[in-house]
Amino acid sequence: MSRHTPVMTVMVAAARKAARGLQRDFGEVENLQVSMKGPGDFVSAADKKAEKVLFEELSKARPGYGFLMEEGGVVEGADKSHRWIIDPLDGTTNFLHGIPHFAISIGLERDGQMVAGVVYNPITDELYLAEKGQGAFLNDRRLRVAVRRELTSSVIGCGIPHIGRPGHETFIKEERAVMLNTSGLRRMGAASLDLAYVAAGRFDGFWEAALAPWDMAAGIVLVREAGGTVSSIEGRDDMISSGGIIVGNEMIHAQLSKVLKAARNG
Ligand code: IPD
Ligand code: CA
Ligand code: CA
Repeated sequence: MSRHTPVMTVMVAAARKAARGLQRDFGEVENLQVSMKGPGDFVSAADKKAEKVLFEELSKARPGYGFLMEEGGVVEGADKSHRWIIDPLDGTTNFLHGIPHFAISIGLERDGQMVAGVVYNPITDELYLAEKGQGAFLNDRRLRVAVRRELTSSVIGCGIPHIGRPGHETFIKEERAVMLNTSGLRRMGAASLDLAYVAAGRFDGFWEAALAPWDMAAGIVLVREAGGTVSSIEGRDDMISSGGIIVGNEMIHAQLSKVLKAARNG
């Protein structure tokens, strides 16, 4: 796409390169479902390989930038104002089960603010990208959040905590309240894509608690650049540090926030 700034060109190239390995490995996972050993170790190797490709490509193109990666953790850079926040495989459970809904997520933080994001689903070849002030795109198409004004006619994405995760009781309260007030709830299993779906107007809103920075870093820029409103569960700007996020157009964000708050306090 001709609109790409130099840094976006770098991010897209890194995502596409890492995606090639994931595409190959995803094909193999389907065979491993029926093997005695199962695909577990294979998937975690695929995840690490993808992260290595991203790390190498981004370090080569922007030496000095720091990293926060799901697998490799923090790598300090000489340049203290820039940091890549990376999830090499968001939607691991889907990948493991042969469900073609997962993504590579790359966010760029500058002086504590998210300024660019790429979310790429290598199976559907959907590449979502956004840069602060430049708009959000799905491949070549400009994205805008949906314009629905009522939560009751909205489709809302969410994340459901599973075994080993906190917040089960809170989620059940929230789910009960939201389901009574929407046209449909979806749990797709890859937070980066959930946020991209809100940017693309497919979901009217989304919320999830207890996320990691790499699950939402890129998606925050996508939603904002598509004209959406983003906050933490408490309505603040501390999504990355609090781990909670609520997104939607301004009206849906407000209604969803209100319903969730009432549910938690009820
Ligand atoms: C997970 C996905 C999922 C969300 C979880 C995340 P992973 O990331 O984004 O949608 O509900 O909280 O941990 O483990 O597949 O990279
Ligand atoms: Ca993730
Ligand atoms: Ca992951």
